[in-house]
Amino acid sequence: MNRRSFLLSGSMATSAILLGRAWASAPSSWSAYPFSLGVASGEPDESSVVLWTRLAPYPAEFAYGLTTEIVPVTWEIAHDEQMLQIVQHGTVQATPEFAHSVHVEVQGLSPDRWYWYRFHAGDATSPVARTRTAPPLHATPEKLRFTFVSCQKYENGYYTGFDCMAQESPDLIVHLGDYIYEKGFHAPDALHLPDRPHPKDTCVTLDQYRLRYALYKTDPQLQKAHHVAPWIVTPDDHEVSNNYAGDVDEYNTPREKFLVQRAAAYKAYYEHMPLRRSAIPNGPSMQLYRTIPYGQLANFYVLDTRQYRSDQPCDDRIKPVCEGALAPTQTMMGSRQEQWLFQSFSRSTAQWNVLAQQILMAEVNWNPTGHPILESMDKWDGYHAARTRLYRNIIDRKLRNPIVISGDIHLNFANDLKMSSLEESSPTLATEFAGTSITSGGNGTDVSDEAKKWRTFNPHVRFYNEQRGYVTCELTNKMWRSDFRVLDFVDRHGGSISTRASFVVEDGKAGVQSI
Ligand SMILES: [Fe+2]
Repeated sequence: MNRRSFLLSGSMATSAILLGRAWASAPSSWSAYPFSLGVASGEPDESSVVLWTRLAPYPAEFAYGLTTEIVPVTWEIAHDEQMLQIVQHGTVQATPEFAHSVHVEVQGLSPDRWYWYRFHAGDATSPVARTRTAPPLHATPEKLRFTFVSCQKYENGYYTGFDCMAQESPDLIVHLGDYIYEKGFHAPDALHLPDRPHPKDTCVTLDQYRLRYALYKTDPQLQKAHHVAPWIVTPDDHEVSNNYAGDVDEYNTPREKFLVQRAAAYKAYYEHMPLRRSAIPNGPSMQLYRTIPYGQLANFYVLDTRQYRSDQPCDDRIKPVCEGALAPTQTMMGSRQEQWLFQSFSRSTAQWNVLAQQILMAEVNWNPTGHPILESMDKWDGYHAARTRLYRNIIDRKLRNPIVISGDIHLNFANDLKMSSLEESSPTLATEFAGTSITSGGNGTDVSDEAKKWRTFNPHVRFYNEQRGYVTCELTNKMWRSDFRVLDFVDRHGGSISTRASFVVEDGKAGVQSI
C-alpha cells in the first residue's frame, strides 16, 4: 500500500468511527464561548466568497471543548452591519474531522460590494464581520486598495499592525505566509513576552498544529483584521517546518516521516483558513496555486514556492553562489505550476499582474565588502535557472505590468527586477515589493550598519528597511502605489504606525519610482 492510500483509508476509518459515536445535535447552551477564534472570509470572486469559523470553546486545550459531536452551525450574510437585510442563510455541520471548522462557499452574490456575515451555534452568536465580492471579470474598477502582510511570530510582539491595517479598511488583505511558527519559544531566535505564553514544543502532529493556530487566532487584533475584509492566503515554510523544501526538512527527517508531518500541517492550515474546498489536502498534497482576478484591474497569481521546490543548494543559508544554485534542474514551483503560470501570462488581459508569493525574488549580494558575492539559498537566489525561466516568460509573453509581492524575509524592500540584477545597465523587467514581518524579529531598526554597506553593491534595491509592519497598495488604471507602513515598536502595546516610504509604478513602465 502506498502512502497516499494508507492516509486516505486511515482517515476514512477514523471518520466512520467518529460518525458512529456522533451526537445528533449541538449543545444548546455552551459552557464557554465557542467562537473564540473569531470568523474570517476569503477567496472573493465576482459572485462568491468563503465564510469561515471554527468552534473552540476551550482553544488552549488539545481537546478544545468538543469531541465527537457534529454541531450544526447557521450562517447568515446581509447587506448591512445590523444584519437586518439578510441576503442568504443556511446551516452546515461542524465535524470533528476538520476540528469543527466550517468553510461556507456562498454563491450567487452581487459583484463588487460589501456584505456582512455571522454564525450561530446553539445559543452562541459570532461577531459580525465584513467581506467584499470582486468586481465582474469584464469590468474595470476605478481602484483597489489592499494590504499585504506576512510573518507573525506570536511570542515576538503584539499584533498592533493588524489593528492599524483594520483601521485602514482595505478592500482585501493578502497574507504571504508564516501565519504561525512551528517552533517552541526556546528556539534561539525567539523573543519571549511574559504575557504571550507559548508552548515549548515544536509542532509535528495534527493536534500540535491545531493548538498553535488556536493560540494565534485568539489574538483580538488578528481577529479584527480578519473581520474587516476578505483575505487571500498562501503558506510559507513555518506553517510546516523552517526552510522545508518539497519533501525535505532541515533535520534529515526520513522522507516518509516528514510527509506525514506535512500532511498534518497542511490539514491544520486548511482547517484555519478561509479557503475553498479545492484546497482540502489529499494527504501531504494541497492545491494552493491559483489565480484570483479583480476585474480587469488586477490578476493575483497566488504561488506555492514550498511544496514542489528542489532542496536548497550549497547547504542553504547565505553562501557564495555554487554550481547547484545555477543548475537548470533546480525548480522553485515545479513544472506543472510553472506551466500553469506561464500559460496564465499568455491569457491575461489584466492591467496589473501580481505574483503573490513567499520569498524575495530580486538577486541580492549580502556581502558588506562586495566580494565574493554572497546570496541567500532559500530565496530565488538559490534557484537562478528557475528565476530566469520566469523572467523570460514575463518578457516573451509580454505580461503587462508585472508586480511581485513577497514576504518571508522580515525586511522591507522595493526592487527593480532585472535579468542581471547586479549589473546596473540591465533593463528592468518587473517590480518587487517585499513586506516586512508583523512581529517576527522584534522591534527592528531603520537600516543596520551592515545593510548600509551591502546596499552599495545592490543599486536595484531602491528601498530597504528593517522595522515591523505591512504594505498598503493602491491600484488604478494609471498607477500602482505602495506605502511601507512601519511601527515604532511591537514589544509593547500601543505602537504607532507611520508611512516610512511610498513608491509608485507607472502603467507600462516597470520599476520603482519615488514620490
Ligand atoms: Fe517569517
